Amino acid sequence: MAAAGSAGFLFSRTPTKALEPWTEAVAYQDPILRALAHALLAPNPHNRQPWLVDLSQEGQVTIHRDTTRDLPMTDPFNRQIFIGMRCFLETLKIAATETGHSVDFGILPEGENGPIAVAKFLEGAMLDPLAQFITSRHSDKEAYSDRNIEEDKISELSNHVTIIADQERVNALRQITWDALEIEMLTPRTLKESVDLMRIGKRAINANPDGIEMREPMLDALCNVALLTRETLLDTDHSGFHAKMNAMQRTCFATPAFAVLKTPGNTRHDQINAGRDWMRYSLAVTSLGLGTHPMSQALQEYPEVSTQYDQVHQMLAKDGETEQMLARVGYGSNAIATPHWALETRIVNG
Ligand SMILES: Cc1cc2nc3c(=O)[nH]c(=O)nc-3n(C[C@H](O)[C@H](O)[C@H](O)COP(=O)(O)O)c2cc1C
Repeated sequence: MAAAGSAGFLFSRTPTKALEPWTEAVAYQDPILRALAHALLAPNPHNRQPWLVDLSQEGQVTIHRDTTRDLPMTDPFNRQIFIGMRCFLETLKIAATETGHSVDFGILPEGENGPIAVAKFLEGAMLDPLAQFITSRHSDKEAYSDRNIEEDKISELSNHVTIIADQERVNALRQITWDALEIEMLTPRTLKESVDLMRIGKRAINANPDGIEMREPMLDALCNVALLTRETLLDTDHSGFHAKMNAMQRTCFATPAFAVLKTPGNTRHDQINAGRDWMRYSLAVTSLGLGTHPMSQALQEYPEVSTQYDQVHQMLAKDGETEQMLARVGYGSNAIATPHWALETRIVNG
């Protein structure tokens, strides 16, 4: 009875409404809306979902960046936001092939302060084999097993990224990644940026299906009786904070391999190209039964993490090259769907 009761409680605390976009994407009949409903499931930093779409022109979509969704503390130059925007575009393109459409992009047609892209839908495209994985791809942020990734899978992923699987560099990257994450958590303004984006419990997640969701039923219960507040989450001396840090450290070290993605420089176009490759990598990971978890802290451009930034670049990049993405990759088991805004809420001038 106790088990049945807790299962019922768990179910009742699931933010069902916020998860509907994952199942509703396939229900759209119109090819453009259908592709957009898939695109908005793309990975993006802090799940900010900074995309807005203008459908006022027949047969084309203008995609804008919602600048109110920037992350000024951890992503001061919006580098990660642009990568996430390109993940959206690539998912749009892949999903469109399911209805036989190709998508022709004009990227940054008015420079970086204008729209991100104008997308024209054209008849005639082969089905992209990655399309079938869009609605089952989720970042897997739990500990991975110590099972090594097989060579054929590494080779498949190497079409999109570089996989680091030798013990020496994996050990070094685990440590650098953890050091940078610890700095982010102990730096008041970067911690606050995350805490401000936390949605605690079912009601808050359904009301704002973005940011960092905390959906464990116990946290929901603590929040309801005001034992978990934004103040306690910002309190780095709190026992709950220490428990969370220990858990994050264990997860960070439970990593058999890392995926890295670098570009020749760090222009907007480099960042946008990185988003394209990252999206294809992410879907390939799902297709291979693996999990991946971006860990961006050591690549961030704020002064407190400059040592870790330099360490990663000294290890993995040549002069001028920029590491755009760094992620854990391995065999996990706990990837769950994140909340998303419904398509209708992202349409402007439609
Ligand atoms: C550019 C970029 C940077 C990211 N950095 C991190 C990160 O540092 N830590 C993390 O836990 N997730 C990171 N993510 C993953 C996002 O949190 C995740 O994509 C988002 O919450 C949506 O969840 P989903 O990928 O499961 O759909 C990043 C994703 C992107 C595209």
